Amino acid sequence: MTNRILENKTALIHGAGGAIGGAVARAFARQGAKVFLAGRTLAKLDAVAKDVSAAGGVAETAQVDALDERAVNAHADAVAAKAGRIDIALNAVGIRHVQGTPFAELSLEEYALPITGYTRTNFITAKAAARHMIKAGRGVILTLSTPGSRMAGTGFLGYGVTCAAVEAFTRILAAELGPGGIRVNCLVPGGIQTDLLRNYWRRIADEQGVTWEEIRDRGDITDVQKRKLFADNARRLYGLKG
Ligand SMILES: NC(=O)c1ccc[n+]([C@@H]2O[C@H](COP(=O)([O-])OP(=O)(O)OC[C@H]3O[C@@H](n4cnc5c(N)ncnc54)[C@H](OP(=O)(O)O)[C@@H]3O)[C@@H](O)[C@H]2O)c1
Repeated sequence: MTNRILENKTALIHGAGGAIGGAVARAFARQGAKVFLAGRTLAKLDAVAKDVSAAGGVAETAQVDALDERAVNAHADAVAAKAGRIDIALNAVGIRHVQGTPFAELSLEEYALPITGYTRTNFITAKAAARHMIKAGRGVILTLSTPGSRMAGTGFLGYGVTCAAVEAFTRILAAELGPGGIRVNCLVPGGIQTDLLRNYWRRIADEQGVTWEEIRDRGDITDVQKRKLFADNARRLYGLKG
């Protein structure tokens, strides 16, 4: 293959066994990156690694809890030692949480779970990679959010606040790390048709008495793959949304 835009790059992906993390890992590998796949369930990571290998790419897997700072740091250090660098770090972790509960019935714990989980894991994984990128004077840190950060609606209060927090985290970190050669970008895909989202659509559709297809957005997983690659290639581009 010619003109592979991520040739000789090292990409570290947390949540790589998930729908978006796995799709991005495959896309990065197709473009020449060596991909280090981290996640909770080894079988899911192995399935992505198998696809990458079958397509001629190089992947390594590791079971790493993305909420465990020591484990994430140790993994990042091992990747940097083995590959010599970390060029791209993506957090595609999805924290399971309750949606659809009316505010008056929503517990503080249910509200706080996604906020705590997503802000914690993004801090931990970004910092683990940034320590190596700062020394190298280059790198790309990618986060994920949803249009829920700016949408009005019911049943996703904690997740909406979460997304706004992840976007603010990205923006502020981009300003701090940008002058040191590190781009920090947040991708904000709309509805990407994964099990996570289809189950959500089905619940909303049931509530509204319509089919889930009527609720469905037009997003497609390939949109995220393309945008991730764009983000990695962009120069002087901070806080990207798309
Ligand atoms: N799907 C969408 O429409 C959409 C749109 C915009 C943004 N996003 C965001 O994109 C991200 C990924 O979404 P997705 O649809 O790809 O979700 P997904 O398919 O559920 O994947 C999430 C992955 O995160 C892993 N994970 C969860 N907790 C973890 C932990 N403590 N340590 C390590 N890995 C952990 C899961 O591992 P296990 O499988 O082992 O549990 C799973 O592989 C989420 O942040 C989501 O909010 C999604």
